[in-house]
Amino acid sequence: MIRKYRPSDLETLRQITAICFEGVSIDKNIEDKFGLINGLDWKQRKMPHIDNDVEVNADGIFVAEIDGEVAGYITSYVNHRTKIGGIPNLSVHPDFQQRGFGRQLIEAALAYFKEEGMLYARIETLEQNQIGTTFYPKMGFVEIARQIHYIRQL
Ligand SMILES: CC(C)(COP(=O)(O)OP(=O)(O)OC[C@H]1O[C@@H](n2cnc3c(N)ncnc32)[C@H](O)[C@@H]1OP(=O)(O)O)[C@@H](O)C(=O)NCCC(=O)NCCS
Repeated sequence: MIRKYRPSDLETLRQITAICFEGVSIDKNIEDKFGLINGLDWKQRKMPHIDNDVEVNADGIFVAEIDGEVAGYITSYVNHRTKIGGIPNLSVHPDFQQRGFGRQLIEAALAYFKEEGMLYARIETLEQNQIGTTFYPKMGFVEIARQIHYIRQL
């Protein structure tokens, strides 16, 4: 089932993030090239994104639950001026992938956007994310740009 986020979910969502984004994270790519930065690994940079999503819009976070266990989550924000909503983070624990939770979570976010009066929904994925690049077009998203991320040592 899909339900609204509760504050007691936060640590679990952070842990699922650390597991799921291993091969599909800019922070992990940085670590692969440069190692730890300021003693922090990629998980220590990526996990706080979820805390940030909670601060920005806890009401737009949905959780997939099975037998009382959190299987995955989606975070979202709404902009009532532009009427464009966005999905910064989505992940489903590998133990529960390919059972339709990803799809249900996106559908929950899209329904929430409609309730909030949004007209469009945005999402982004890395070119290296083979699941994202096939899944999002299937969910009706249309590609509008590709971006290159750079970093340099100071
Ligand atoms: C993306 C993710 C959330 C999908 O979750 P899920 O619960 O497995 O998704 P679903 O079961 O609803 O499957 C949705 C679609 O994803 C794709 N998909 C899921 N797992 C796949 C796999 N192992 N290989 C290829 N495609 C896959 C399929 O296109 C599938 O559509 P279909 O059911 O019509 O074939 C999950 O794979 C994940 O957490 N990945 C790591 C984190 C990530 O990439 N997040 C998104 C960042 S932009």
